[in-house]
Amino acid sequence: MENDATLTIGENAYALNIIEGTESEKAVDISSLRKQSKFITFDDGYGNTGSCESSVTFIDGDKGILRYRGFDIADLATSSNFLETSYLVIYGELPSANELDLFKERVYKFAKLPDEVISAIHAQPKNSHPMGVLAAGLQSLGGAYPHYCTNDRKADLDCFDESAALIISTVRTIAATRHRFLLNEGVPESNPTASYCQNFLSMMFGNDSSSEDIPASVINALDLIFLLHADHEQNCSTSTCRMIASGGANPFASLAGGVSALWGPLHGGANMAVIKMLNQIHDAGDDGSRFIESAKQGKTRLMGFGHRVYRNYDPRAKILKSACDDALEALGVSSPILEIARRLEEEALKDPYFVERKLYPNVDFYSGIILQALGFPTDMFTVLFAIGRTPGWLAHWKEIAETGKKIHRPRQIYQGSPLRPYSALEKR
Ligand SMILES: CC(C)(COP(=O)(O)OP(=O)(O)OC[C@H]1O[C@@H](n2cnc3c(N)ncnc32)[C@H](O)[C@@H]1OP(=O)(O)O)[C@@H](O)C(=O)NCCC(=O)NCCS
Repeated sequence: MENDATLTIGENAYALNIIEGTESEKAVDISSLRKQSKFITFDDGYGNTGSCESSVTFIDGDKGILRYRGFDIADLATSSNFLETSYLVIYGELPSANELDLFKERVYKFAKLPDEVISAIHAQPKNSHPMGVLAAGLQSLGGAYPHYCTNDRKADLDCFDESAALIISTVRTIAATRHRFLLNEGVPESNPTASYCQNFLSMMFGNDSSSEDIPASVINALDLIFLLHADHEQNCSTSTCRMIASGGANPFASLAGGVSALWGPLHGGANMAVIKMLNQIHDAGDDGSRFIESAKQGKTRLMGFGHRVYRNYDPRAKILKSACDDALEALGVSSPILEIARRLEEEALKDPYFVERKLYPNVDFYSGIILQALGFPTDMFTVLFAIGRTPGWLAHWKEIAETGKKIHRPRQIYQGSPLRPYSALEKR
């Protein structure tokens, strides 16, 4: 075939298929290579490996493009909201008015956590990180709804509409329950007439179910952050979630794995690391230039800069940069660290070190500043990323459950000791 590739190793040539995506990205399908040649391919960190065909999200990192189900992120950020976008990401189409109402009704009906899940959240060690609590909370939630959590793919898919709404709704309740527990407080009842973010903010910070006092700009800023995080194709946590799902595990277990993968500072933990870095720079009386120098010398990293896929401005960072200005102005908050962030960005974008390596601000660079201004404790920032990413993880769980045929199982090149005899303890 015209599109076929030939790989020559030594004297042998192997015919391989080429797969083309709807946006003309191309891949050499090496799935038959080992059978043909006994060779596997090697790609440490998977930077050049496509692990699946997926229809959820398209990214062109060189051009700075991000689309959910074909819709540009900037259009969605301007015209949609988090719950409508969640529906789109999960089900593939924008909902009709009826579909959206039904979806919202399902999400709202599940806002309250079963008592045994609340007890499980309260029982976590005092110093547990909120991400650990979220992962544990999701696993407990599965236990409280065993008929949504069977590990039988067909049965789990049959009740997916309900379990997805349950998970989207309760990730915020788990987060708020833990936060209020550490303050010796309970979570106010959710208000069925208030929006998803309004309810979440009143669960976090309100005194009762009334959320009318929260300014619209605050609610909108949080909704935008969630929407911008809704999916990002095969990143570390989504790939983890898909890997777990490929073994047939239920959505609760798959998402708990996604949460754990997101926790790390090079992934979802970066928004927290950005604030720590900005505070450090501020406390050291640095205007940012000393920090940039030490990042260039490899002594530290400029957190919130660089991305495995984007070699251009992360389109989400662009949107959040202006949202950050608006939110801080509406809240009447002046942030010295925002000044430092702006200066770091300005300096880095003209510094050859960052320019040559194509290091631009990523989504985490400005999101932390907004979250801090909204009043969220720093160690909850990654949890907010997880709440936003929940529809994406669910969409990928569904894609695997509907179309996945094999358990995911990469190979390796073994570099350990050759066969050796066991030596008795006294001879070592
Ligand atoms: C996101 C990240 C892990 C991507 O990593 P990656 O694609 O594997 O990039 P690499 O680690 O190969 O880095 C390539 C080069 O840029 C440098 N670099 C990458 N990110 C950097 C940063 N934030 N600050 C300073 N230098 C950086 C590396 O040191 C390396 O330099 P070298 O070629 O001289 O060795 C990385 O950019 C990073 O650690 N960023 C900060 C954390 C962050 O914001 N993460 C959130 C991602 S949404």
